[in-house]
Amino acid sequence: MSVSALVTVAACICLSLAAPTGQDCTGTISSMDDVDDAVKCTTVNINSFTVPAGETFNLDLADSTTVNMQGDVTFGNKTWDGPLFQISGKSVTFNGNSHTFDGNGPFYWDGQGGNGGVTKPAPMMKIKISGTFTNVKVLNSPARVYSVSNPAALVMSKLTVDDSLGDQPNSKSDGKAAGHNTDGFDVSTTDLIIEDSTVMNQDDCLAINKGSNIVFQRNTCSGGHGISIGSISSDAMVSGITIQGNTITNNDQALRIKTKASATDALVTNVTYSGNTGTGLRQFGVLVDQSYPDTLGTPGTGVIVSDINVVGSETSLSVNSDAMRVAVNCGAGSCTGTWDWSALNVTGGSAGPITNFNGIKNFSQ
Ligand SMILES: *[C@@H]1O[C@H](CO)[C@@H](O)[C@H](O)[C@H]1NC(C)=O
Ligand SMILES: *[C@@H]1O[C@H](CO)[C@@H](O)[C@H](O)[C@H]1NC(C)=O
Ligand SMILES: *[C@@H]1O[C@H](CO)[C@@H](O)[C@H](O)[C@H]1NC(C)=O
Repeated sequence: MSVSALVTVAACICLSLAAPTGQDCTGTISSMDDVDDAVKCTTVNINSFTVPAGETFNLDLADSTTVNMQGDVTFGNKTWDGPLFQISGKSVTFNGNSHTFDGNGPFYWDGQGGNGGVTKPAPMMKIKISGTFTNVKVLNSPARVYSVSNPAALVMSKLTVDDSLGDQPNSKSDGKAAGHNTDGFDVSTTDLIIEDSTVMNQDDCLAINKGSNIVFQRNTCSGGHGISIGSISSDAMVSGITIQGNTITNNDQALRIKTKASATDALVTNVTYSGNTGTGLRQFGVLVDQSYPDTLGTPGTGVIVSDINVVGSETSLSVNSDAMRVAVNCGAGSCTGTWDWSALNVTGGSAGPITNFNGIKNFSQ
């Protein structure tokens, strides 16, 4: 190949790998027909409209695009896999301006979530951007809400998930809460901050399945299963996690690490909790359990859990009278090192079991 041919090939490869460059224009979306043209621009405004049932509102954005919601978006009703909304792009600024994505949850809710009943679009909101995503309200998700897999650093802030209506039974839920598996944030990623947000739901407020350098701070979690690391599967690694300044009310537990009994070659390390407050906790204050999907069942030994600390400002948890304050259920040898729990203060209920581990320092219950 001649030198000029090589240069041409190199230039083509380079061009095709180059970041998509948006046009300096404003695209406005008032229906799905507007999306393809609007995403060519680096400013995209979203007006109020309804996304037809069975379609994903997909924003595949040019680098450095700013998106402004100027109205509420509602999704049509259909039993299908979803997602309902998906956004991708780098260095994106997404301003929700307090507007709402309405998932019409009551159409789907049957008390079974992803475990049965009708197929529910999940996740509702698939976030694949770097940059910022702020001031968005999600109302009545069919099941899981946010799934986050950011390509570079992302800050998600001032978000509201309001699935509180799902606390009530309906005609299909056999007396149980109609909303189920309505996880607030499902996270398998790195370099993510979630802050100043509120989640009212019936499952985990946050669930970190794998990843590193994740901060979850100053959020309020109401009605669900608390702030979770896990459930951890084989080969997953979680490290460098900061959970601070959160308020957890009327949840099954405040802080939980759950690893699958069957998991192998996985690791959870360097998790720091500080300044969290929990009240009305129904089952546990803190639960570290290696027997998932059981609770306090026979633990597995394939996930190493180390360096789990409750330090800094006091983490103050108040559990209900029939709940356990702290339960730690490790496999033999799979919880390791010294854990400093000097800033943990749990009141109410009764002491839970601490199994197969004596490395917790500066804490007794
Ligand atoms: C979708 O379902 C919800 C809840 O059941 C209902 O209120 C709404 O009217 C339905 N929307 C349409 C377009 O049928
Ligand atoms: C633990 O995580 C914190 C926060 O991400 C990080 O700053 C620190 O370097 C990590 N420590 C170790 C020993 O990896
Ligand atoms: C623990 O919390 C309770 C209830 O908030 C409080 O009364 C108590 O002083 C705290 N104990 C310590 C050692 O901080």
